[in-house]
Amino acid sequence: MSYIKLTEVVKKYGNGVETLYALNKVNLSIEKGDMLAILGTSGSGKSTLLNLIGCLDNSTSGKFEFDGKDITNYNDKELAIIRNTKMGFIFQNFSLITEYNVIENVEVPLIYRNLLLGKSKQLSKTEIKKLAIESLKKVGMDESINKKITQLSGGQQQRVAIARALVNKPDIILADEPTGALDKTNSLNIINILKSINDTSNTTVILVTHNEQLTSFCKRTIIIEDGIIVKQ
Ligand SMILES: Nc1ncnc2c1ncn2[C@@H]1O[C@H](COP(=O)(O)OP(=O)(O)OP(=O)(O)O)[C@@H](O)[C@H]1O
Ligand SMILES: [Mg+2]
Repeated sequence: MSYIKLTEVVKKYGNGVETLYALNKVNLSIEKGDMLAILGTSGSGKSTLLNLIGCLDNSTSGKFEFDGKDITNYNDKELAIIRNTKMGFIFQNFSLITEYNVIENVEVPLIYRNLLLGKSKQLSKTEIKKLAIESLKKVGMDESINKKITQLSGGQQQRVAIARALVNKPDIILADEPTGALDKTNSLNIINILKSINDTSNTTVILVTHNEQLTSFCKRTIIIEDGIIVKQ
């Protein structure tokens, strides 16, 4: 049994008059510890696929199994718990909260976890701070914990975003064009951080990109065109 398994998954947009198949009968299995690149041109369905795997969106039809469970029909709260306890997200535009400083940004998933989970599983403020600093250390940003987000370069912001994605010790990192807004040096830095997370902790990494160079850092590449996986 694969860790993640999509069977005949369809994601349809539109109202019948004009229908767009963002994903068209996708079959995909991902094992624990894999580092998978999803490659494809703009509009091919990469983000749609990643968002489904990341439980950020629902499919129109098909089956979605995760960690041995059929979660196709999970409700929003059940999906939120999976996202918060098993997954870490990284986006092209970093998606940091500019009103918060560095460490406050990294603490966000743990504060949200306290709201989601029962009282017995709650973390104290001190524990949350400790975990956030630990996470910032992993990306070499622990000396900037009190800095404002706007004081950081793009590469530094993305490292903070990775720290935020790592703070709940996720089983999977989902990254949508994480180097899309960065220059070559910073891109290499980010992909190397992701690779080392995959190597050292067996965290599954799923990376969406249209940069073919980055796929060489991954263990496996799939290519998607018009919502169809054309190469596994
Ligand atoms: N909410 C939506 N409503 C309608 N159509 C959508 C919606 N989201 C995505 N689409 C369409 O679905 C298709 C796939 O979009 P998706 O965002 O997955 O592409 P992508 O491969 O991530 O592209 P990019 O590289 O530009 O980010 C596109 O044709 C897009 O226009
Ligand atoms: Mg996209």
